[in-house]
Amino acid sequence: MSVINGNALLRLKEWFFQYSGSFCHEDPLRKECIDLKISHTLKVCALIKDLAENLKLSEEETNLAEVIALFHDVGRFEQLMRYGTFLDAKSINHAELGVEILKEKKVFNGIDEKIQDIIFFSVSHHNRLELPEKEDAQRLFFGRMIRDADKLDIYAFSTNRFFQKDIPPNDPILLEVPDIPGISEEICRDILSGTIVKQKNLKSLNDLKLLIASWVYDINYERSFQIIHEKGYIEKIFSILPETENTRKIYSNIQKHLNEKCSIASK
Ligand SMILES: [Fe+2]
Repeated sequence: MSVINGNALLRLKEWFFQYSGSFCHEDPLRKECIDLKISHTLKVCALIKDLAENLKLSEEETNLAEVIALFHDVGRFEQLMRYGTFLDAKSINHAELGVEILKEKKVFNGIDEKIQDIIFFSVSHHNRLELPEKEDAQRLFFGRMIRDADKLDIYAFSTNRFFQKDIPPNDPILLEVPDIPGISEEICRDILSGTIVKQKNLKSLNDLKLLIASWVYDINYERSFQIIHEKGYIEKIFSILPETENTRKIYSNIQKHLNEKCSIASK
């Protein structure tokens, strides 16, 4: 199969920068949102390469993983321009929009169909609640990689943002959820019962913090668990959550899960 070699990767990176650079905006908040998505993309590229190295992937497989990271959020720019929001529920599924754009612009012309299929699958499934259980092994392998790398950068970014003093009310970057006191009972119940929290059930910034913390139950690769552990993301999130019986229980469950995964990884 015609793999993604160094030249193809370079050409695709150039395409991405040209495309994302065409979405400049005068409104400072809008501009911040666009810049944020570009920097998120680059960080996800670096993270996926870290995972690829840990998984001992070949150069071509690493290039494929990087291309998936490069394009996983390509739909975000058009979404923001058309609808003025990053909320899929209020606008459009940004992952599917991304695939539509990539196909329409024939970005992968000349690249093997099987490789294109893995890219389109991984991009279109990076934001799904879950991956399908029965699926082609390569689709699942790379789909899991982008889901981990994406979450790892959201951990890094959001734990910083939560501590920022000048967060705008209903921050568009933090899913427009209001910073009001309290935590939803349903969110706690879902996490304690091992159910994945749905974004549409979020009522406050505290709920969002818990949702992000609970992603440890949707992480796939050992290296990703190690990074979450090393960076102390869980501790940071819980340090800015109200202490209740529920949050204490959730914290201890999450830490237990993380420690188990990390000790397996270090064996
Ligand atoms: Fe995304």
